[in-house]
Amino acid sequence: MNRIFSGMQPTRQLHLGNYLGALRNWVALQASYDCIFCVVDLHALTLPQEPEVLRSNTREVAAAYIAAGIDPQRCILFAQSHVSAHSELSWILSCHAPIGWLNRMTQFKEKAGKHRDSAVLGLYAYPVLMAADILAYKATHVPVGEDQKQHLELSRDIAGAFNRHYDVDFFPLPEPQILGEATRVMSLRDGSKKMSKSDISDQSRINMTDDAETIAQKIRKAKTDPDPLPETADDLVARPEADNLVTIYGALTDQSRQQVLDAQAGAQFSTFKTALVDVAVAKLAPITAEMNRLMNDPAEIDRLLSHGADRAEAIAAKTLAEAKDIIGLLRI
Ligand code: TYM
Repeated sequence: MNRIFSGMQPTRQLHLGNYLGALRNWVALQASYDCIFCVVDLHALTLPQEPEVLRSNTREVAAAYIAAGIDPQRCILFAQSHVSAHSELSWILSCHAPIGWLNRMTQFKEKAGKHRDSAVLGLYAYPVLMAADILAYKATHVPVGEDQKQHLELSRDIAGAFNRHYDVDFFPLPEPQILGEATRVMSLRDGSKKMSKSDISDQSRINMTDDAETIAQKIRKAKTDPDPLPETADDLVARPEADNLVTIYGALTDQSRQQVLDAQAGAQFSTFKTALVDVAVAKLAPITAEMNRLMNDPAEIDRLLSHGADRAEAIAAKTLAEAKDIIGLLRI
């Protein structure tokens, strides 16, 4: 059976981009794949974290997975730091990843910005840990939003480099699955920037923990242009904010942008935003309520994560032992 691996960082709250670009697709895919979903807490360390907040965010991301519909019995759901094979394999892979490949990573350039020299080594090596996450399970498919495409290409390159170097067919080359209408949800304040946890403005995103009133207020204040909704999706090209709201509406109601426009062309944004608030609240409110319920029992979340870690460990430890054998590291 084909195997899926994917993960999210427990940095701040998850937002609508995480949900529409990734989590929602995971829920749909769990019926047809062997699925492993990870809370990538080690990746979160590439930015400064408060210990208590990191602990709580890690549980909250696990709660979001379950509340959105991931079944922790059917899938393996765990925290990355619980399975040491990720870090070990990351080191091994880093010894097969030329620096030139990492230098091309646009996300590092964006995140490090002008402060390249003071950026931590972990931020630079981040995509290699991501490759280790995927390859430790020999995952064949990786459902992610569009922003992770370049990292996945690097994972494929690293897997290929390892296989070629030792003349083995050991790691499968993982395929990205960038699915659905909303592969890149944009900021509500600026249609040229993606919706992101790191945006300083909370108004730029809808968090999965926002209540109905907050969602309504953020959508009402979302940037738009003065024109009504056009007839065709092509007419949205030069209107990034309008395009984003139509895309979000479409993704929330399982329609293409054109289908949304077929029904809404000519509507003013004031009317369209009211409809958008309704569908956003209808979709997110039950998930938020379930997340809150799960977060009331942190011990139960820890128990589920620990059970998932045992199952993940059994797979990853075997891959790691085989990789060590291939390389020529002595067995104990
Ligand atoms: P992270 O935590 O930034 O995001 C989690 C998932 O959400 C998607 N996403 C979006 N999709 C659409 N529109 C947006 N505005 C948006 N923002 C985020 C991301 O593409 C991602 O699928 N490096 C990864 C985590 C990771 C991982 C992995 C993923 C670590 N190891 C192995 C897959 C496989 C990340 O930072 O995601």
